[in-house]
Amino acid sequence: MLRGDVLAALPRVAYRRQVMAVRMGRRQIIAVNDPEVVREVFIARAANYGRKSHFKEQALRPVIGESLFANHGEIWSSRRPPIGRLLHPSGIGKLQPLFQSVGGQLATRWARLAGPAGGLVDVAPDLATATLDVMLLAIFGPGVPEGEARAIAEAFTRFQSGVQVIDLPYLLGLPNWLAGRHRRATLRAATDIRHRVAGLIASMPGEEGYLGGMRALRGEDGKPLLDEIGLLEEVAMLLLAGSETAANALAWTLYLLATHPEWQDRAREETTTLLGDRPPEAADLNALVVAKAVIQEAMRLYPPVAVLARQPAATDRIRRWTIQPGDTLLCIPWLLHRHESIWEHPHSFRPERFLPENAKAIPRFAYLPFGLGPRVCAGAAFGMAEMTTFLAILLQRFEFAAGPVPVPRFRLTLRPEGGMRIMLRPRASR
Ligand code: HEM
Repeated sequence: MLRGDVLAALPRVAYRRQVMAVRMGRRQIIAVNDPEVVREVFIARAANYGRKSHFKEQALRPVIGESLFANHGEIWSSRRPPIGRLLHPSGIGKLQPLFQSVGGQLATRWARLAGPAGGLVDVAPDLATATLDVMLLAIFGPGVPEGEARAIAEAFTRFQSGVQVIDLPYLLGLPNWLAGRHRRATLRAATDIRHRVAGLIASMPGEEGYLGGMRALRGEDGKPLLDEIGLLEEVAMLLLAGSETAANALAWTLYLLATHPEWQDRAREETTTLLGDRPPEAADLNALVVAKAVIQEAMRLYPPVAVLARQPAATDRIRRWTIQPGDTLLCIPWLLHRHESIWEHPHSFRPERFLPENAKAIPRFAYLPFGLGPRVCAGAAFGMAEMTTFLAILLQRFEFAAGPVPVPRFRLTLRPEGGMRIMLRPRASR
């Protein structure tokens, strides 16, 4: 059951519990599902929980190797601050033309695919390609060969569909060679991604984009902080962390707007009143409060990173449970975001929760689409600006209506199984 669909396997009672523990073979999994316990563990005791779970480390390693996302200790602490500074919110405004142009190209492609009378379009692969295009251009600057984003997005999809969701052999203490039948195809996809990234780095010797910024980083000894492999792995990490997440959040947002026409109308009215037909500038984004609330509510119901997983460095007690090195600690935003004692109508789409006048009522540490603590997402401002810009442009250009009901599947991110087909009807520009 766990190999198939972890989220569907969660019992009803999980949406009401504060802490849950399951023993599987030799290991224990403890899930914290209460804002105060989450704060205690991920913030107050962050030093003990800095390391990602064994499973996440193993799952990500073929693509992102030793990059900071999958690492802890010295590598993480030397790389996270300078890479965090490169992605600092104050520098995101200059990427606005990029968000506008890739969002505009996506809308043009969908207008062609849907036809003048409208049609069903699988938005998932195109959103994956568009968000990857944004990351490639932000990292490498102009000059990325056409088709590269689609090729890497497809390789990521192949990689993810082969990655085991739960590392049963590890949990049961069985040998590694039992770790799943997809292994070879998964590794091939990972090699393909690394090969492409290495080729791009070699062909872009300049100082542009985040690549230039990362090349210029120096360690305390004055030597480059990242050697050739380090650079390759941090670039691959940014591509993965920065595109899959935003693409899935946008896919679920479009689906929820397609099934909630009243919110679609409200978000479109806000966009067209503020912008008319022009794409949003960086200075407009804060005023798009409905669009942002819609995205935030979509990430509550369908958090792109549905599970945060750690392993403790030392034995610890969490309420009445003892957790030991080798055990796994989970915080499951999918559950926390739908917890029945925190949220009213927890499974309903109610973006008004996130409108500025209501947002203060949301308890701290109950809403964690970008994680929390020292390992909080370094690209949250980037992601929000990109998603809001894309959504505004898509609202200007299309009306959305529901297609087949999508099924969420928990992989490295929360993907719609088999894609997300939505009826897109082009709007006449006025
Ligand atoms: C909707 C968009 C995004 C979502 C929902 C998201 C979510 C997350 C989450 C939940 C984590 C923490 C994972 C954990 O604690 O185990 C994370 C980490 C990270 N994210 Fe994002 N992310 C998004 C976009 C981005 C973008 C656009 C970038 C880069 C431009 C980015 C870069 C990173 C990095 C570097 C980390 C690692 C931080 C660390 O370990 O210190 N993310 N993200």
